[in-house]
Amino acid sequence: MAKDLVEFRNLKTHFHTSAGTVKAVDDVSFTIREGETLCVVGESGCGKSVTAMSLMRLLEVPPVGGEILFEGKDLLQMNKRDISMIRGNEIAMIFQEPMSSLNPVLTIGEQIVEPIMLHQLVTRKEARTRAIELINLVGIPRAEKIYDSYPHELSGGMRQRIMIAIALSCNPKLIVADEPTTALDVTIQAQILDLMRDIKKKFNTSIMLITHDLGVVAEMADYVVVMYAGKVIEEAPVIELFQNPKHPYTKGLLKAKPVINQKQDRLYSIPGQVPNPIELGNNCHFHDRCEFCMKICTEKEPPLGLDPDGHKVACWLYEEEGKQK
Ligand SMILES: Nc1ncnc2c1ncn2[C@@H]1O[C@H](COP(=O)(O)OP(=O)(O)O)[C@@H](O)[C@H]1O
Ligand SMILES: [Mg+2]
Repeated sequence: MAKDLVEFRNLKTHFHTSAGTVKAVDDVSFTIREGETLCVVGESGCGKSVTAMSLMRLLEVPPVGGEILFEGKDLLQMNKRDISMIRGNEIAMIFQEPMSSLNPVLTIGEQIVEPIMLHQLVTRKEARTRAIELINLVGIPRAEKIYDSYPHELSGGMRQRIMIAIALSCNPKLIVADEPTTALDVTIQAQILDLMRDIKKKFNTSIMLITHDLGVVAEMADYVVVMYAGKVIEEAPVIELFQNPKHPYTKGLLKAKPVINQKQDRLYSIPGQVPNPIELGNNCHFHDRCEFCMKICTEKEPPLGLDPDGHKVACWLYEEEGKQK
């Protein structure tokens, strides 16, 4: 079994706003192993991006509780200098909209060379050679020409490939990709996902892939964490999750997933919406959208229990205490 690379332990990231405390991420624990693609899935507003931003230490206010261990060291306790050595070096990030992460006034080449020079002891010439190798590696032809281009001269798919090249420039152990293909059309999306799969295979990189799209999960994941309203409500290896989903929310997501080549009259969507994270009680946050809601679900939060298949679910339907009521 692969070694643990990142361990989220009881992470709590709350925001204090004039309207109240937003519990964006509330007591979240899960583990990313070496060489594994872990997908975090859930509807918009469930806390996926805040989880990733907490890991990258990109939030203005730090998490209020928990630990994020990277190779055993707590990222949340590191000073700014140490964290900046890890960020972009051992952990790289790819965002949804590459245009906003690329600097419009710098050439593509300069933007790949910069992190290489920052983190590695190489000359500018060596960094340039490495940058051109990386542009080739992410499947862009005529790399030397692209090296001297500006972001606006490239298509969205090409820009996302460049973001991946930048992410790879320092041989990271983990790539965090937050909805990396959401802004792209389906053909380009498939190409970018292929590229990420190749990279993982080639370099044994771990990937934390955030998506609201179960189609992407099916294509990419080894392991899946389902988030709902700031909590992990289910997690399992991908095949187990798709064959044997347990949480009514996960079942709803699967039902809502369009099946390619299959005619569907109307795409199912889970009734209701993700609750306001300011108004969450100590109960199951999904109870008011759940067709199996019992009394206990409105009164008490279900624990994230583990069953023998290595499948975890936080739902009273699977707990003795829930079955009795
Ligand atoms: N800086 C912030 N201040 C207050 N609330 C925030 C902040 N960032 C995110 N949130 C809230 O936290 C919740 C989770 O957000 P997010 O992690 O972006 O969701 P997801 O990525 O799953 O769509 C949302 O309700 C969002 O409005
Ligand atoms: Mg998000």
